[in-house]
Amino acid sequence: QITQGLEMEKIKQVVITGYSTGGAVAALTTLWLLSLPSPPSFPFLCITFGSPLLGNQSLSSSVSRSHVAQNFCHVVTIHDLVPRRNVDQLWPFGTYLFCSDSGGLCLENAASVRRMFHILNSTGTPNIEERQRYEHYVSTLSHQFLISRSSRSENISDNSYEAGVALAVESLGFSDDHPSGVSAKECIEIATRMSRAPIERASELAIELGDVLQSRLEIQWYKDSCDASPKKLGYYDNFKLYSNQRELKVNMSRAKLAKFWDRVYGMVEKKELPSDFDFELKWLFASQFYQLLAEPLDIAYFYKYKYSKTGSGHYMENGNRPKRYLLLDKWWKERGECHRVKTARTRYASTTQDTCFWAKVEEAKEWLDDMRSEGTQRQALLWEKIVGFESYANKLVKMKDVSLDVLADNSSYNLWLEKLKEFKLDNGIGMVVDESDAMET
Ligand SMILES: *[C@@H]1O[C@H](CO)[C@@H](O)[C@H](O)[C@H]1NC(C)=O
Ligand SMILES: *[C@@H]1O[C@H](CO)[C@@H](O)[C@H](O)[C@H]1NC(C)=O
Ligand SMILES: *[C@@H]1O[C@H](CO)[C@@H](O)[C@H](O)[C@H]1NC(C)=O
Ligand SMILES: *[C@@H]1O[C@H](CO)[C@@H](O)[C@H](O)[C@H]1NC(C)=O
Ligand SMILES: *[C@@H]1O[C@H](CO)[C@@H](O)[C@H](O)[C@H]1NC(C)=O
Repeated sequence: QITQGLEMEKIKQVVITGYSTGGAVAALTTLWLLSLPSPPSFPFLCITFGSPLLGNQSLSSSVSRSHVAQNFCHVVTIHDLVPRRNVDQLWPFGTYLFCSDSGGLCLENAASVRRMFHILNSTGTPNIEERQRYEHYVSTLSHQFLISRSSRSENISDNSYEAGVALAVESLGFSDDHPSGVSAKECIEIATRMSRAPIERASELAIELGDVLQSRLEIQWYKDSCDASPKKLGYYDNFKLYSNQRELKVNMSRAKLAKFWDRVYGMVEKKELPSDFDFELKWLFASQFYQLLAEPLDIAYFYKYKYSKTGSGHYMENGNRPKRYLLLDKWWKERGECHRVKTARTRYASTTQDTCFWAKVEEAKEWLDDMRSEGTQRQALLWEKIVGFESYANKLVKMKDVSLDVLADNSSYNLWLEKLKEFKLDNGIGMVVDESDAMET
């Protein structure tokens, strides 16, 4: 019924809400919607009033660690006992808005919310007719937040952070010199510190990103100068073939960038960054530029120094591909696709859009070499892969999704195509006539 209702008309936003047990049902419904294989595309928000807790610590931490935590707001009054029942077994998640007659306080961190529950219990606030209180808060709180945020205390700190904490304590109706006020103050300070840390880390990373920009430009410049040189060998092949001063310098830039993005990868793995980090277009595009430009060089380095036929496999096998790229692939798949330009290209891309293109070329080279030595059964299998890559690459080129270096006269890709042509001639395999090419000529 819910999904049917949601499909009915153009929806801008859906708010799912409920009071007490109804609040828990609202939260469960929201979790269910979020966990559908294809969640609804419109934004939705769950606001509960006086909802009991409904999940254990595992649920709480997996919700809190993902960006869906932002979809939940739980309004509780400081007098309501229902939200803090069973707090020893069950854990809160999402944002909690604690309301009192003096104002409201938001806490996001589950541990801090629990602490606040304990503090409220220890103050033994009386349980008054709660249902009516919620109605009261709904009608007055927004007004209070916006207009009458004046402090009762004469001594407001010059330090804006301290002043904020003092106001927050006050908004629960506690005073600074009361023991509960002191505990509440500590609780708020811890919560702020914990929720600020990821944001601070992200802004430090943004500064470091600026510092590694030079390395990216260095590689870009190397690519441009390779494309422009009369030898017409792209940066992938140049980097793989040569070890001159220029390549050593580019290798250093490559290593610097890899170190930076490995750090980002590590922080994401350890959940040390804000959960919506990859939603920021700045990071999405920076990572995409990096990957498009640098991964071909990582592939070149791999095949130059590390790969051996009897070793631990190709670049894309056995975890040889750096993990940072798996993360960046995921970001781009989830968030980036919608930013891709959909109109057909009129010129070749500035970087090949499949960052693993060269790794695929290297595999195809080996398949073709193996064709001459293997038995018929394996040959059939290899041939299938070869033809598969041939048509895949052909399509990329047609769409102009490759950069010019792929098409350079002596590029690994062109040399492979030549070899393939020879092989087909030697074995009397008919050439595939591409009709659109024939029409052009
Ligand atoms: C939380 O509940 C789930 C589902 O019953 C269970 O698999 C998980 O082990 C529980 N976690 C904790 C920390 O109790
Ligand atoms: C607060 O008191 C209620 C009722 O006495 C109890 O069920 C609950 O577990 C207590 N909560 C905390 C956080 O101590
Ligand atoms: C404000 O601070 C001054 C100096 O620290 C102190 O003497 C005074 O009692 C404080 N007033 C209040 C209302 O706390
Ligand atoms: C490609 O390689 C061949 C053989 O090494 C060479 O004769 C030819 O000049 C190269 N083509 C270009 C454009 O450099
Ligand atoms: C290239 O960079 C890698 C990674 O830092 C380093 O281990 C290697 O020694 C460098 N290779 C050359 C040839 O400079």
